[in-house]
Amino acid sequence: MATVLVTGATSGPGGPLVERLRAAGHDVRALSRTPGEGRVVGDLSTGTGLDAALAGATVVVHLATNRKKDLPDTERLLVASREAGVGHVIFLSIVGVDDIPYFYYRDKVANEHAIAASGIPYTILRATQFHSFPGEILGMLGGRLFLRGLKVQPIGVVDVATRLAELATGTPAGRVADIGGPEILETRDILSRLQRAGRAQQRVLSMGLPGKTFAAFKAGHHLAGLPGYGTQTFDEWLASGASK
Ligand SMILES: NC(=O)c1ccc[n+]([C@@H]2O[C@H](COP(=O)([O-])OP(=O)(O)OC[C@H]3O[C@@H](n4cnc5c(N)ncnc54)[C@H](OP(=O)(O)O)[C@@H]3O)[C@@H](O)[C@H]2O)c1
Repeated sequence: MATVLVTGATSGPGGPLVERLRAAGHDVRALSRTPGEGRVVGDLSTGTGLDAALAGATVVVHLATNRKKDLPDTERLLVASREAGVGHVIFLSIVGVDDIPYFYYRDKVANEHAIAASGIPYTILRATQFHSFPGEILGMLGGRLFLRGLKVQPIGVVDVATRLAELATGTPAGRVADIGGPEILETRDILSRLQRAGRAQQRVLSMGLPGKTFAAFKAGHHLAGLPGYGTQTFDEWLASGASK
């Protein structure tokens, strides 16, 4: 049985991953900055609690993100993991990060490189956007604006967690095949599904954006292609009432 530190244990895929690993009998340290049942407290931005969380850990699954610039936190985690003798680091990245000129994606690529260069055996998995992501974008645009003319291949965090659990209990594999959801949908279609589910206002203006980043999304670099790995559809996720 493995001793696994999961960073970002409270993130979308973090919760279901911790559940799956514990159900399989593994010893899981679920890292969070906030105390709670079944959690270990630690902060990647300061390093507080990291050594204790890593003592005796054999595997690290790194899901934590501050959604801005994660590289310094990842480097801190890698140094501490090396010192603790961790034998496998698994990192969750995003499909298309090297083809889409977006600041968060550039940072993801830098994180991937740091992991590959760390000397710790590793596995990197890239996934498409989670089902919650279109709604988050809508929220970021004030709930009144959405993006037109894009396709998305949303994946359930439960499916991402299933793949991560498999990787965490396997041998280090380097970069593995990208995963995506079971369907590719137009943003227009996503919006009407969100509206029908009462998760978006009825009056939303859809628009395209100028610039290379939007063009790269329009070109579909963030899609993994069909058939996808995930089985949970967007409608099933909506019906589940989940927010992540
Ligand atoms: N969202 C997507 O569509 C998508 C798609 C593909 C891949 N991903 C990747 O999947 C991962 C999870 O994404 P998400 O959107 O589900 O994340 P999220 O909901 O924003 O959660 C962020 C997580 O990071 C932890 N965290 C943040 N700052 C931390 C710090 N200083 N120290 C320790 N933990 C910290 C938070 O833990 P506490 O708040 O409990 O401390 C939380 O568990 C990320 O690596 C992301 O890039 C996301």
